[in-house]
Amino acid sequence: MSAALGAQRAPRTAEPGDFGRALLAGLAANPRSVPPKYFYDAAGSALFDRICALPEYYPTRTEIGILRERGADIAACVGAGAHIIEFGAGSVVKIRLLLDALYAPAAFVPIDISGEHLHAAARSLRRDYPQLAITPVVGDFTAPLALPALPAGARRVGFFPGSSIGNFTPCEAQHFLRQAAHLLRGGGMLIGADLVKDPAILHAAYNDAQGVTAAFNRNLLERARRELDAEVDTAGFDHYAFYNVPQQRVEMHLVSRHRQHITVAGQRFEFAPGSAIHTENSYKYTLDGFRALAVAAGFRPGPVWCDANAWFSLHWLEAPG
Ligand code: AVI
Repeated sequence: MSAALGAQRAPRTAEPGDFGRALLAGLAANPRSVPPKYFYDAAGSALFDRICALPEYYPTRTEIGILRERGADIAACVGAGAHIIEFGAGSVVKIRLLLDALYAPAAFVPIDISGEHLHAAARSLRRDYPQLAITPVVGDFTAPLALPALPAGARRVGFFPGSSIGNFTPCEAQHFLRQAAHLLRGGGMLIGADLVKDPAILHAAYNDAQGVTAAFNRNLLERARRELDAEVDTAGFDHYAFYNVPQQRVEMHLVSRHRQHITVAGQRFEFAPGSAIHTENSYKYTLDGFRALAVAAGFRPGPVWCDANAWFSLHWLEAPG
C-alpha cells in the first residue's frame, strides 16, 4: 500500500553537499537543530512512504478521502484548461485524483529538486494522460523559478498537498505563499493543511507502534554515517515527538541516551544524557489561522474542504491578477 499511496514529501530543497554544511551548522548551534528537508534521501523517502500508510498517520488517507469526495467542487474552482504546478513531486495517487477530477487540464508542471524522482513520475503520468503537456522542472520551489511560458488566457493553479506547508516555520510559510501568490496570479492554489486536534491523536501519529517514524527520525543520523562518514552511534539516540500546544506544532527530536559524541568532518560534538537535536516541526493550523496566513501572503481564500472529523483541510486560494 505504501508504494501505491506514495507521499507528499516535505519540501526537498537540498543540493548534495548542503547536508554536510547544514549538519555541521546545526550541531554547532544552541539549541541543536537540523532542517527536516534532510530526512529525504532514498532511505528517508521510503520510510516516509511507509509512514503515509500507517494506521496512526491519518493525514495522507484523510486528504485522499477529501480529494475523492470533493473532486467536483474542486474542479469548479480550478476551472477548465488549467496549467497545474505541483510544488514537490509528491503523491502519484493525489495528482491522479486531481487530474481525473478536473475539466481538461492543459498542462502539468511538477517542480522538485530530485530529477530522478521527478522524471519517473512524469513518465508514468505521460502514459495515462497523453493529452496533457507534462513539463517537469528540476529546481528548488522555495526559490524564484523560471517556469514554462503560459499561452494567452491560460491560468496557473498550484497544488501543494500533504500539509508540507506545516514543515515550514510560520515565517518560511509566509514567504513561500507570497512567492506562490505572485507566480499564480490570475489563477489559484489548492493546498492541504493539517488541523489542530486532540493531542492524543497527534501523539499517536508521530509515535507509531511499529516504530517507523522513529526510524525515519534516526535516518538523519544514518544518512550522516552513509554520506559524510560521520562517527555516530545512531542507536544511542531516542526518537522523541510531542505536541507543543502553545506553538501548535508537533516537534521531533533525537535525544541522546547517554554521554557520547558525534564526529563529522573532523569536528567533535559532545552530547550529555538527555541532550537533543531538534529535527522537525509540523505545524497544525486552525481554519481561520490558515486563511489569515493566506490573506497576509496575498491570496483571497475561497472554499475549504474538510473530512468529517475536521482533522485535515484542503483550501482553495485565489491568487488575484
Ligand atoms: C511531510 N510532512 C508533512 C510530514 C509531517 O507530518 O509533518 C513529515 C512527517 N514527519 C513525521 N511523520 C511525518
